[in-house]
Amino acid sequence: MENICKKVINIAQEAGNFIRTERKSFDSGNVETKGVHDYVSYVDKRAEDIIIEKLGLLLPEAGFIAEEGTGSKKEGGLNWVIDPLDGTTNFIHGMPPFSVSIGLIDGKEMMLGVVYEVNLDECFYSWKDAHAYLNGEKIRVSDAKRVSDSLIATGFPYTEFKRMKPFLKSFQYFMENSHGLRRLGSAAVDLSYVACGRFDAFYEYGLSPWDVAAGAFIVKQAGGKISDFSGGDGFLFGGELIASNGFVYDEFKADVERFMKAD
Ligand code: IPD
Ligand code: CA
Ligand code: CA
Repeated sequence: MENICKKVINIAQEAGNFIRTERKSFDSGNVETKGVHDYVSYVDKRAEDIIIEKLGLLLPEAGFIAEEGTGSKKEGGLNWVIDPLDGTTNFIHGMPPFSVSIGLIDGKEMMLGVVYEVNLDECFYSWKDAHAYLNGEKIRVSDAKRVSDSLIATGFPYTEFKRMKPFLKSFQYFMENSHGLRRLGSAAVDLSYVACGRFDAFYEYGLSPWDVAAGAFIVKQAGGKISDFSGGDGFLFGGELIASNGFVYDEFKADVERFMKAD
């Protein structure tokens, strides 16, 4: 798995280099709308083509769960979970962060994760039974003990506004009771920043598997905890996720659950 992970890092960086180069001459006239506030460009699609072509050669038996729809999923076996450009809105507006996110699952088990943040040239990665790394250096989650000592990341939904009221109430609570709230614009980067201790905690709903597969795995390998808002393991396909270091997890999860599961 280590060897495969090293090759996936090269593939993520190749796609990231393409994205960086295209950004220099990117014209916002090239943006297409997939849904409400949901944008895509030839850069997302071409990056996905690059990734899928290379991953197909690396593990011909694996299927694909990829945001722009290339390839098909294999039931029960190995599948790559790919977001070729996480943070498209940031990319379109010419601001960091944006990233390439590639995970590998075997059935339900995560085997490896690679998140390459293009602007800072930072590659976060881990494979099964290994530490988590940032550009070759071991990383660990923070040791903040309480929500009141934590910097918290989140993301705002683009389309699903039904849960807006409890979500806004949770913002007020965390603004008043933590070091602050941040919305960077790439869930894969939010998770990677939890893994290396820049953020202490992250929560968001309305997420897709490709936003979280690689990053959630890297958080776990860096000593953190991941769950859905109820503490269960439905974070990959269930659209909602909590990530934090192990100390702050119980308190943070109880806070998120109190707001987001109240009706
Ligand atoms: C988005 C980013 C963002 C999150 C959205 C995602 P995209 O992915 O991860 O941080 O808030 O829910 O859809 O569309 O830029 O690949
Ligand atoms: Ca995404
Ligand atoms: Ca994307």
